[in-house]
Amino acid sequence: MKYYEKIKQLNIKENPIILGIESSCDETCASVICGREIISNEIMSSASEHVKFGGVVPEIASRAHTEAISKVCELALQKAEKKLSEIDAIAVTYGAGLLGALLVGVSYAKALAFSLNIPIIPVNHIRGHIAAAYLQDKELQPPYICLLASGGHTAVLNVKDYYNYDVLGQTVDDAAGEAFDKVARILKLEYPGGPNIEKLAKNGANNIVLPKMFSNDKKTYNFSYSGLKTAVINYCHNMDEKGQEYNKADVAYSFQKSATDVLIERTMRAVKECSVKTVAVCGGVAANGFLRDGILKECIKNNIKLILPERKFCTDNASMIAMEGLLQYKIKNFADISLNAKASITL
Ligand code: KG4
Ligand code: ZN
Repeated sequence: MKYYEKIKQLNIKENPIILGIESSCDETCASVICGREIISNEIMSSASEHVKFGGVVPEIASRAHTEAISKVCELALQKAEKKLSEIDAIAVTYGAGLLGALLVGVSYAKALAFSLNIPIIPVNHIRGHIAAAYLQDKELQPPYICLLASGGHTAVLNVKDYYNYDVLGQTVDDAAGEAFDKVARILKLEYPGGPNIEKLAKNGANNIVLPKMFSNDKKTYNFSYSGLKTAVINYCHNMDEKGQEYNKADVAYSFQKSATDVLIERTMRAVKECSVKTVAVCGGVAANGFLRDGILKECIKNNIKLILPERKFCTDNASMIAMEGLLQYKIKNFADISLNAKASITL
């Protein structure tokens, strides 16, 4: 019997052992989960190789993935004390991301799954970020509101069940993480920008006036980070033109406050309007301490349960990919060996 026909006839296990593989950007990640339990979570990053270029260089990232992929998978299996023969399925990010980088993970996962005669589960990276919440709280079930804020996406979602979301609002231009990275560049901070803005902001204050997003539309759930970024550029440029010094820490703090206040406002409004009692915050920007503290305060005030994955599960990791893989495994959403990487896919 052919590989795919055989895979489709598999009996579905309640708590399968899944190997997750993620290689969409500059981190090569592998993880083993059993049901919703993380048994290992390994990351090898090429971030330091990109610093001097001020952002991820696709070719450098692809080469680094090629060197790291088998090591990181072996390490994840070793730490989980699992043999390859014990793995029930392989979940791999097939998009969105850098094509050459994705291809390394997809090709490796396909070869491994085919040789082991086990299913390969194609995972949408963004859905993986959302699934991180299910690892943080093993009891979490939809419905809930999810704030997703990463380098490529910013959205408020009404999660109706494990497979369907209503997008209540999203960014109309730059994503929140993208804005953090661009403002970091203006302030001459190293890549990746988000964590460096957060660090610098610790010594700053909110004393620079920045524009409010869609201030005339109190009902929108959308975001627009491009204007906020431009306002920061203009402020710094004007001060430079006048030959005046400005406090970079204040710029970082004021930007961080504007960027995160709006995320919290939209999320809490969605909670009220959709009458749900639970909020999850996911994606790289959810690692930001200022956002974490702010949303926690609001949730306590409004008696809302908050699911906030540990920082290392907000930024790219393979456990979230394995978790989304588990959801797809349950409905036998398996790929054939013709699975390909895709640079852009929607939610
Ligand atoms: O989710 P992620 O790891 O990758 C994707 O885009 O899918 O998100 C990366 C983004 C980057 O823009 C990075 O600057 C931002 O998340 N980020 C942060 C922090 N840590 C990562 N932004 C603000 N504060 C942080 N501590
Ligand atoms: Zn990501």
